[in-house]
Amino acid sequence: MNAHSAKLSDRILDAYKSYGLKSTIQASLVAVLDYLFDFRYGTDTVSHVELKNLDINSENYSRGHRYASTPAIAFKKLLDAIEFPDDSVFVDIGCGKGKMLLLAPHFGFKRVVGVDFSEKLCECARKNISIYQQKTGRNAHIDVIHSDVVHYEIKDDENVFYLFNPFDEVILKKVLDNICSSVEKNPRPVYLIYYIPYYRKIIERHGSFIKLRRYFFSGCEFIIYGNKPADQFFHKR
Ligand SMILES: C[S@@+](CC[C@H](N)C(=O)[O-])C[C@H]1O[C@@H](n2cnc3c(N)ncnc32)[C@H](O)[C@@H]1O
Repeated sequence: MNAHSAKLSDRILDAYKSYGLKSTIQASLVAVLDYLFDFRYGTDTVSHVELKNLDINSENYSRGHRYASTPAIAFKKLLDAIEFPDDSVFVDIGCGKGKMLLLAPHFGFKRVVGVDFSEKLCECARKNISIYQQKTGRNAHIDVIHSDVVHYEIKDDENVFYLFNPFDEVILKKVLDNICSSVEKNPRPVYLIYYIPYYRKIIERHGSFIKLRRYFFSGCEFIIYGNKPADQFFHKR
């Protein structure tokens, strides 16, 4: 058994213990598809990484969550179901190895940005992008920024912020404040996509965002929030 299959079997066993048979079958299929993605493109996105094994030099290290990637099939179904305004810019807050940065350009974003506080993960994301672009012949505009998100300066055109439960409520609150300051300087509709929305109450209590929709795809829960008024968000199906 190689290292990949050992990790895959661990994931399946964990899912069975936590969620029972039906959800385990679904989670297993999703996991297999993610392994096949890396196999097909030669990328390295699927294996989890604990933050203690990384090179993180940030006061917010202990508030961050380990690297794991959003299941590609769920993310694609989500972005197939919704439509953001023209010229939207997608920002993955805590991009890790960059799987979402590979997928998001397929959905018409003008620019795609990933921010992560691990230089090693950023390097891995850049390598994945280069491998994926060579293999697919696609050449989207993707920036990977090595920074703690708290210190990341949000650009005037950035409007779709993706969060796969990257950190605790303290950092989430600071990120929401930063997004709101950016909107004050340059008013525009902005959206949050929150996968595994563990700290949803922080967003709901913040008062600057309204819940637009909740989705379940391939067993994955996503909530979309928008600032007020969120009049340019389209639900396609
Ligand atoms: C669960 S992973 C999500 C990876 C990716 N967004 C995805 O969906 O595939 C969370 C990531 O957030 C990063 N992270 C956690 N706290 C951070 C912070 N304060 N600033 C920047 N990145 C952070 C971690 O290094 C990790 O790569």
